Amino acid sequence: MYVETYGCQMNLADTELLLGHLGRSGYSRTDDPASADVILLNTCAIREHAEERVMGRLGELQHHKTKRPDVQLGLAGCMAQHLKDKLPARAPFVDFVVGPDSYRRLPELLAQGDAFIDVRLGREETYSNIVPQRGAGVRAWISIMRGCDKFCTFCVVPYVRGRERSLPIDAVLDQVRTAVDGGYREIVFLGQTVNAYRDGDADFAQLLRRTNAIDGVERIRFTSPHPSDMTDAVIAALAECDKVCPQLHLPVQSGSDAVLARMERGYTRDQYLRLAERLRLAKPGLALSTDIIVGFPGESDADFEATCALMRAVRYDTAFMFKYSRREHTKAFNWDESVSDGEKSRRLQAVIAIEEHIAAEINDRSVGATFPVLIEGPARRGEGWLAGKTPQFKTAVFPWAGSAPGDTIPVRVTSATAHTLVGTAEI
Ligand code: 5AD
Ligand code: SF4
Repeated sequence: MYVETYGCQMNLADTELLLGHLGRSGYSRTDDPASADVILLNTCAIREHAEERVMGRLGELQHHKTKRPDVQLGLAGCMAQHLKDKLPARAPFVDFVVGPDSYRRLPELLAQGDAFIDVRLGREETYSNIVPQRGAGVRAWISIMRGCDKFCTFCVVPYVRGRERSLPIDAVLDQVRTAVDGGYREIVFLGQTVNAYRDGDADFAQLLRRTNAIDGVERIRFTSPHPSDMTDAVIAALAECDKVCPQLHLPVQSGSDAVLARMERGYTRDQYLRLAERLRLAKPGLALSTDIIVGFPGESDADFEATCALMRAVRYDTAFMFKYSRREHTKAFNWDESVSDGEKSRRLQAVIAIEEHIAAEINDRSVGATFPVLIEGPARRGEGWLAGKTPQFKTAVFPWAGSAPGDTIPVRVTSATAHTLVGTAEI
């Protein structure tokens, strides 16, 4: 089988689950669609643009079916769930459509050979007993909860991934131990609102503590937490767990109270700012990143300026910035788009410029400092260079000095850009 993955890390982890699950039915992965019996796109529906990309790619892959009619070409993931039975009309050559809660049935449905659409969302499915087939590397992604109950008014996720549900804590800890035995050094817990994790009495704070106690785990990260689920207990666990990295992706979406209220995010600008402050006190050296949407319905010039001001106040290490994209099923879908596409583009360019400037300043200030870098492999800048990540999840590149992927070595930063630290190994 040939698989392409679009979208977020949850989807990458789902692809690993799909590969593990189908692997038990005899499917193995190939990098060449021309030699695959099954061609699968694991898709994203978060913005219109993501869906357009997949439609384009489907058109390109379609020719494999003219030469080999038995090839099964299909869509998995959020866009499959989003478009459901509308897909065959838009792409009649697609053989199967399978939503995020239907992967368990995929081998038998494929074996039957007929076209199918399976998009039932389950309240229980967590795939906790499916062993993922992980890619090479130092980092293991582990989905610990699925779905979302927050229903932010712009977001399609609750409709395509269904209700929030967590894996049993023992299943998560087993996956951590298996990953460590497999040589992975860094554990990344994944969930749409990852810090809402709960299994009975065990909350996310407890999961962090128990993971921190496992021998062989070197680093722990998680994404994406929701500001409203950052309880005192979670903040205390962050502070106490030495393996939890000083890095946090904390989506803010907007710096305007009026917009935050219409987005139904569940916090005000002030509450968010205070939370960021508390987190920085709890975790010295904390790097913060965020998601920002510009051009949400009703976003005035003043609202937008409030977002810019918040970015300057928090000083994010990185930010993912998006133009608002109207999604069917969501509450905001029915609201008038008050910001033109041209104005959205202008606002997007403005926040990108602010962020680039701040990120470059932050990284510049780290010149001269030394960070433990977990080496991942060769750097793209050429032979003799290695790349890895600092605890703050910054990419650091440095000339090879006898170390190998999986090693953690001190690297002194000698120069920096907005996106990369350049240094020398201090060994
Ligand atoms: N339009 C633009 N961006 C969106 N996101 C989610 N839904 C939309 C949308 N309709 C962004 C949010 C979220 C990130 C994963 O994608 O910023 O945090
Ligand atoms: Fe979407 Fe909001 Fe849930 Fe995040 S918390 S997945 S933005 S609905």
